[in-house]
Amino acid sequence: MRDHASGTEATISMTETSSPATRRTYSPADLEQMNVNLSGGDPYGGLCGLDQSFIWRPFKSSINHHTHPLEQADSNKETTRMTTEQQPIPAIMDLVTGQWRSQVLQAGVALGIYDALSASQSSAATAVAAQIGVDEALLYRLMRASAGIGLLVEEEGARFRLSGTGQFLSADHPQTLRDMVLLNIGPELYAAWAHLPALIRDGEHDGFRREFGHIVFDHAREHPAFAEVVQGAMTCLSTMEAEAVRATLDRRHAAQELFCDVGGGHGYLLAALLRDRPQAKGIVFELPEVAVAGDAGITAKAGLVGRISRQGGDMFEAVPEADIYLMKHVLHDWNDDECRQILRVIRKSVREGGRLLIVEWVVPGPNEPHFATLVDIHMLCASSGRERTRAEFEAIGADSGWHVTNVWDVPQTPLAIVEFDPV
Ligand SMILES: C[S@@+](CC[C@H](N)C(=O)[O-])C[C@H]1O[C@@H](n2cnc3c(N)ncnc32)[C@H](O)[C@@H]1O
Repeated sequence: MRDHASGTEATISMTETSSPATRRTYSPADLEQMNVNLSGGDPYGGLCGLDQSFIWRPFKSSINHHTHPLEQADSNKETTRMTTEQQPIPAIMDLVTGQWRSQVLQAGVALGIYDALSASQSSAATAVAAQIGVDEALLYRLMRASAGIGLLVEEEGARFRLSGTGQFLSADHPQTLRDMVLLNIGPELYAAWAHLPALIRDGEHDGFRREFGHIVFDHAREHPAFAEVVQGAMTCLSTMEAEAVRATLDRRHAAQELFCDVGGGHGYLLAALLRDRPQAKGIVFELPEVAVAGDAGITAKAGLVGRISRQGGDMFEAVPEADIYLMKHVLHDWNDDECRQILRVIRKSVREGGRLLIVEWVVPGPNEPHFATLVDIHMLCASSGRERTRAEFEAIGADSGWHVTNVWDVPQTPLAIVEFDPV
């Protein structure tokens, strides 16, 4: 969305800076110039301490306070008006061309354009083509379109540099969204989405399985490059969410000693939570291949070596004993029966006085637009799972030895934390 893209850029106050090239290492001054604010110091070496407050601004409505998502998605009055019933044709065309814009974005990232360019100095399209080994004339057209949607800046003589927004697409940006793009609008999930009408017609989930014959996580096991992108995308998500989740939990559960993040990916969330809990330790519980692949240096950068360990296994079979279990965007990968199985396994291992915290996009009541309802369709295409209402969480919990004690909105995000106590 053109207006959306420029709106986002304005929202995060990125300017087309004339800063010196800062592509490999970032000083605090560089980060400030890139609008990466290190709130309260940066105990995580430019990782977990990043300010995440701006990231979810497009989806700031909570499960209790809603505005129309297209209004949320852009505070620009012009676009908001365009998406109303008074201008149905532009509104529909905006949705039609949304897919073109996201594919221009994806192609640029996949080809390495954003890693070949700098924000401070423009490069000729011909030079970039030679560097990344692609057709000059066609690359120019892709770069021109990328500039048109606000990701690059075109200068005289077919030269380009990164826009403020485009900087977030280079692999070495401290808050890179590269893998988020490569996973969510890359060829695998694009193919899964193509099955959507047939899935609904047939009453079946999981376009990914239809396309590839197995689920995402099995595909990742067989395709290491895809696995890297999956885990990288999860870490992108956590860089957007962990700080807000940490702030929401604040001192809650501070007395608890042992945390276990089930399906915790690289462990970014756990690192953020242990920051306020010097007595606590944590286990990232993951599929064996993900556990051995490591944590991309997150534990070391957070200064938590010795306090966070990684353990491989299958959450459908057994999880380590702990006081507090976390599951962020894990249950949404699975259907209700599968969720009950996971919850029963955790119930068996939870220590006396322990809890379970589910971090998800909780679906609000009927006719209340929310980001969760869109991700819900993504999950339908990509998995057997779904996003759930509070009542649906209560129901799967009740069948599995848990009851919901609290649901907290995570401010500035579309997330909520559902707290379960064992019964
Ligand atoms: C959608 S990702 C969420 C990752 C992370 N919690 C986050 O929010 O970024 C789901 C995670 O569950 C893990 N997973 C899938 N099946 C699992 C299993 N049977 N046992 C343990 N972890 C599993 C995947 O490897 C993946 O990292």
